[in-house]
Amino acid sequence: ERVIVLAGGMSYEREVSLSSGRRVADALKGAGLEVEIREADAGLLPVLVEDPPDLVFPVLHGAEGEDGAVREVLELLGVPYVGARPDACRLAWDKPTAKAVMRAAGLATPESVTLPKGVFHDLGASGVMAAVVEKLGLPLFVKPTRGGSALGASVVRHAGELPAALVGCFSYGDAALIEKFIDGVEVAVGVLEIDGTATALPAVEIVPLNERYDYTARYTAGQTEFVTPARLAPAAMDAALDTALRAHEALGLRHLSRSDLIIDRDGTPYLLEVNVAPGMTETSLLPLALHAAGIDITRVLSSA
Ligand code: DAL
Ligand code: MG
Repeated sequence: ERVIVLAGGMSYEREVSLSSGRRVADALKGAGLEVEIREADAGLLPVLVEDPPDLVFPVLHGAEGEDGAVREVLELLGVPYVGARPDACRLAWDKPTAKAVMRAAGLATPESVTLPKGVFHDLGASGVMAAVVEKLGLPLFVKPTRGGSALGASVVRHAGELPAALVGCFSYGDAALIEKFIDGVEVAVGVLEIDGTATALPAVEIVPLNERYDYTARYTAGQTEFVTPARLAPAAMDAALDTALRAHEALGLRHLSRSDLIIDRDGTPYLLEVNVAPGMTETSLLPLALHAAGIDITRVLSSA
């Protein structure tokens, strides 16, 4: 069987994707498959048309990878691929939309407000910011509505920090998602479909050694401590795994996903987001969960 792993792309997470792609390719090769790593650029189309592979494994992070556009092309050409379909990607990629869907499914996600970049051209910007703080309280978490790897994301502990947080956010996107900051334990729960059955993987607890799980903490070995399975009470653990499975289903995802959650002091899991192309680098969460479960990523091929 011949598999094309798509990696790279032009998003801010290009380097992360290249690193994820290499790892996925190695795992597939290890399983005896013929593997080729490619960019999803203009050169891809002729290959897909003239010499289509048996399967495509998209490992593209950021806009063109997670917004469903590349998978739309695969659908049109009838090339099988691993992962969620385009419509579901579009839902998951836009955080405010995904939050609305998850809320409708009865899942908890932090209360939030979305502000467009244009807010700074409006003379009423300071009034808007004051209203946001009034509504959500402090601290807040600010991030681009569409993005990943914590780029443009920051915590706001004092109202005076909000303008700078928004400026940082708008350098990575045109809209900001401002969420109430939930104090608790941050965990990631991967979902993998094996022989067509969705299974929640062990929850991975994230303990950033420098307080923040930012881009550097994510991709520098040793900057974050991961505890698998997460140190949660049994009821909170069950709720976290169940929430990830339900989010995967509510968003109509397929094959694999990773839900990022905060478990508050009462054990309630709050969904931050669900990733359709979770990082697969050496320091990424899904590989840690797979390792802890003794499951190889290639098992997902039984569902693709
Ligand atoms: N956006 C990165 C790749 C992740 O979610 O792992
Ligand atoms: Mg993400």
